[in-house]
Amino acid sequence: MNKTLSGKTILLGVTGGIAAYKSATLCSRLVNLGANVRVMMTKGATQFITPLTLQTLTRHPVATDVFDERDASIVQHIDWADSADLAVIAPATANMLSKLANGLADDMISTTLLATTAPLLIAPAMNVHMWEHPAVIDNVNKLASRGATFVEPGTGQLACGYVGKGRLAEPDEIVEAIVKMLVGPKPLTGQRVLVTAGGTVERIDPVRYITNDSSGKMGFALAEAARDRGAEVTLVCGKTEAAPPNGVQIVKIDSAKEMYDAVMARLPGTNIVFKAAAVADYRPLHQEEHKIKKSAEALTLELVRNPDILQGIGDWKTNQTIKNDLFLIGFAAETTDVEKHAIDKLKRKKCDLIVANDVTASGAGFGTETNIVSVYGPQGLIEHIPQMTKRDVAERLLDIVQANRNGLEAHSAGKGTNR
Ligand code: PMT
Repeated sequence: MNKTLSGKTILLGVTGGIAAYKSATLCSRLVNLGANVRVMMTKGATQFITPLTLQTLTRHPVATDVFDERDASIVQHIDWADSADLAVIAPATANMLSKLANGLADDMISTTLLATTAPLLIAPAMNVHMWEHPAVIDNVNKLASRGATFVEPGTGQLACGYVGKGRLAEPDEIVEAIVKMLVGPKPLTGQRVLVTAGGTVERIDPVRYITNDSSGKMGFALAEAARDRGAEVTLVCGKTEAAPPNGVQIVKIDSAKEMYDAVMARLPGTNIVFKAAAVADYRPLHQEEHKIKKSAEALTLELVRNPDILQGIGDWKTNQTIKNDLFLIGFAAETTDVEKHAIDKLKRKKCDLIVANDVTASGAGFGTETNIVSVYGPQGLIEHIPQMTKRDVAERLLDIVQANRNGLEAHSAGKGTNR
């Protein structure tokens, strides 16, 4: 699990607008990323969502009244103000913007924010005319000039019936802004990553095909991990079990030939390729137009070689006439002599790294939630990754890729850091 915000304390101020209900999703996303979230609500906000909801999601009491001092050993609003790495107001009403711009301190949120030196992120939500009112514009400008960061409202249907700008930004957008402020730019920002996942489907006739046991989980985990590190991800996927991840470009294919075309067409401009798909080496020579009828006792299916996509990428990458900085990671699913076959594939297919998967090991390989792999580079074994979830394997693989692309030693990448 990606715990990007682990160790960070976020003060979340929720003010009284209909969008207050979205604060539940926001809390849950922040907590999942490891943040310690302390919620403050105005009386108005409690009309739209109960403190108990946010208390349950954050596992902390929610503060609604500056005088409700429960712990005599501290002054709560000062304690919370001091503990914050970041203060977030989402949703922020026009009233709260006015209070903050003018230094008022007449409720828990405005009082605590006057006392904190933490950076401030504001996600406003209001009626379109309120958002365009000169008084609100002045307050926004004043707060921005003092260093507050805004996640601007979106445009669309507003709860008040108007269509226009004023809708609270989506929780994912607010989370992205929070991560950027607390962790800095993500390490793969601006990088294009292409991942292949799942098994190919080689048609015999309209109702029959040759495929394999790949579920796509390993490729999906890589796509998600790269996406969460800021990369622009394209996922070329064949037959898979689960729904592909959000926030990545999906290219659906069936056969190895289709995967070859989809991948090769996208290589220019791509920085990293993970070739996690299980590709059929052979396909039926003829794909029958109609269902094959049962007749003779035996049926011989003639198969021909499929293009080797990984080999094609390796040749493209090392072609002196093509300028590129592609970093290529192949996978090797093996049942015997794992290291020998993996290193042979690494060299033959001109990969930068190869991920050897002993698919006979329990808890590894096709369809499982976990994997066990060994990563090899031209210099030999880089790291053995013991059994862990495919998402955690993906995170570790990205650490190794980042370290090797930067010419550093893989093991100096630092587990779980700077995602
Ligand atoms: O999808 P899951 O259920 O999560 O399972 C994960 C996995 C076991 C499929 C994955 O981790 C894995 O090992 N993928 C590689 C499977 C495979 O096809 O291995 P291979 O040893 O046959 O091929 C070696 C490499 O060449 C692979 O990167 C493969 O994508 C590539 N290849 C193979 C044949 C071909 N015609 N074109 C290729 O590009």
